[in-house]
Amino acid sequence: MTKCAGLLGYPVSHSSSPRLHGFWIQKYGLDASYEAHEVQPDELMSQIADLKSHIEQTGNEFRGCNLTLPLKETIIPYIDQLEQAASEIGAVNTLVISENGELQGKNTDWIGFRDSLGDHLNLDRFVNGTALVLGAGGAARAILYALKSMGFSKIFLTNRTQARAQHLANEMKNIPIEVVPWDEKEQMLSKTDLLVNTTSLGMKGQPPLILDLTDLKKTAVVTDIVYAPLETELLKQARLKGHSVVDGLGMLLHQAKAGFEAWFGVYPEVDKDLRHHVLEGLK
Ligand code: ATR
Repeated sequence: MTKCAGLLGYPVSHSSSPRLHGFWIQKYGLDASYEAHEVQPDELMSQIADLKSHIEQTGNEFRGCNLTLPLKETIIPYIDQLEQAASEIGAVNTLVISENGELQGKNTDWIGFRDSLGDHLNLDRFVNGTALVLGAGGAARAILYALKSMGFSKIFLTNRTQARAQHLANEMKNIPIEVVPWDEKEQMLSKTDLLVNTTSLGMKGQPPLILDLTDLKKTAVVTDIVYAPLETELLKQARLKGHSVVDGLGMLLHQAKAGFEAWFGVYPEVDKDLRHHVLEGLK
């Protein structure tokens, strides 16, 4: 009996997840599959039910799926067991169907962010630290949760649309967030231990992120969730100034571990070969 999982979203054709999970399925020699399916938000639950019955009719088992925006939020009312992190972040990126058919909702994006940084740095350096987060969209929510779990005692949050940052800060009340006007973000750099870009600026086809790093604290680490290109202008600028930099690909790779383990029973490894394989698919 093949264990089946996949990615639901719209669009999904450019996603790296099938390639990523496919690499692990082959590496660990599993009888498993992971495929992408296009699903509209208003058809989400009926499509999940159809997919499940289709897979079961062929004698296989539907174990769950990843969800992309906006389905990450659409699914929440239908979840039987919502994990604490998913509840606080307000988004489910990993759905696990338990043996009795219950839907378990997890958010592993924050784990992806934390573990990607952890590949490069000892995260203890950030306890009681200060972060500056650019952007207040869907990705920022999981990252704010990760920063809190890592022990940051102050998080400056800035967004082009300030009301959106304020709304996020109000929603995530137990995270020490201070909203800063977009035009004043450079003034926070001298206090910043970790600078995170969660906006789409700097992504292939998008405008560049313009930020003068002159005043950035010497020991600060800089990370970007954008991974196409792998080295954004922000990371390049930071690297040339001597800062440690962490690209966005690690977050994508590490967020996938917990789902893979829950569906297929093997905790997979994020290593150079996986990174290389996924990067090849991005070319
Ligand atoms: P995601 O869910 O991937 O985070 P999103 O919700 O569309 O995507 O958020 C994109 C982020 O990039 C937002 O913070 C957005 O700022 P606004 O809330 O003001 O839209 C930011 N962003 C996108 N284009 C931008 C631009 N040209 N200048 C500044 N910020 C931009």
